[in-house]
Amino acid sequence: MPTEGLRTSPSRPCTPEVDGAVTAVAQPNIALIKYWGKRDERLVIPWTSSLSMTLDVFPTTTTVRLAPAAGADRVTLNGRHAAGETLRRVLDFLELVRELAGRRERAVVDSHNTAPTGAGVASSASGFAALAVAAAAAYDLDLDATELSRLARRGSGSASRSVFAGFSLWHAGGEEDPDGSSYAEPVPVRGLDPALVIALVDDSPKAVSSRAAMRRTVDTSPLYRPWADSSERDLIEMRLALGRGDLDAVGEIAERNALGMHATMLAARPAVRYLSPGTLTLLDRVLRLRQEGTPAYSTMDAGPNVKVLCHSSDADRVAAALRDAIPSGSVVVARSGPGARLLSGGS
Ligand code: PMV
Repeated sequence: MPTEGLRTSPSRPCTPEVDGAVTAVAQPNIALIKYWGKRDERLVIPWTSSLSMTLDVFPTTTTVRLAPAAGADRVTLNGRHAAGETLRRVLDFLELVRELAGRRERAVVDSHNTAPTGAGVASSASGFAALAVAAAAAYDLDLDATELSRLARRGSGSASRSVFAGFSLWHAGGEEDPDGSSYAEPVPVRGLDPALVIALVDDSPKAVSSRAAMRRTVDTSPLYRPWADSSERDLIEMRLALGRGDLDAVGEIAERNALGMHATMLAARPAVRYLSPGTLTLLDRVLRLRQEGTPAYSTMDAGPNVKVLCHSSDADRVAAALRDAIPSGSVVVARSGPGARLLSGGS
């Protein structure tokens, strides 16, 4: 699917449904230039800018209803009451939305996620992007796409990018006004028809959350600063490669950026290792695909799964090769997808 012509901003929040329920949907994104490490944990300001592609798979659908008579917020995730860290993050987010809106009513949040939660397929990105759009509309906040991106960022950094369709760049932001200047925006791309083939090695929740792993990497890894510096250079090259529609350059930069990010974690004390034997099998298979003449490039996030960037026309061949390489895993072909948006008709 060509990336040009896709909608690049979410629908503007409109009047909530008659029963007060607002439903929004958002898709995950996969970073080609990674976000890894926060400069400000409370405001979720990253050390480096990042760039990603929003996918057309694994939507999260979230409904927010205001409950003026309730004494507390209620949150269900895939039909079960949210608890622990996940619940705390959603409650903090709702508090922030209320603060911005100058409102006090509690809310009922019901979210359905179609990606394996916590397995490095960025379910927090789609989750907080959908929640930002739904909660902003439920509390009558009239936010434009940039403001929604800033708001989504406070829930989960990568969610700032899922507000937009196709490719988007999340600015690390400046020293002066980090909150105001750290948001995502669409990136123009020419003549590329990319696919990301996702090989799910393992869909169990990760042992170390990306939040904790980032903190440990920034605090203890001697490789963190060099990677952050090289990532800024990768971003400049990546924008040029996207602008000229050069999939090989885009893939090479994305692959080295991701491997570098994992190197910083491996050098953390103690080490954070998300890559598993299955991951390495897939990385080898992708190298062989290239040697056999199919342009294909790997990227990995906070989990063992591998996402392989290739031309859309090669996606089925790449998917078949990855399926052969890990018969116990599962493989999904994703393409460029839409940004976060309100669903008409409410819940
Ligand atoms: O937004 P978080 O806290 O889920 O962090 C995501 C970090 C990576 O997925 C590893 C990289 C990225 O840029 O998406």
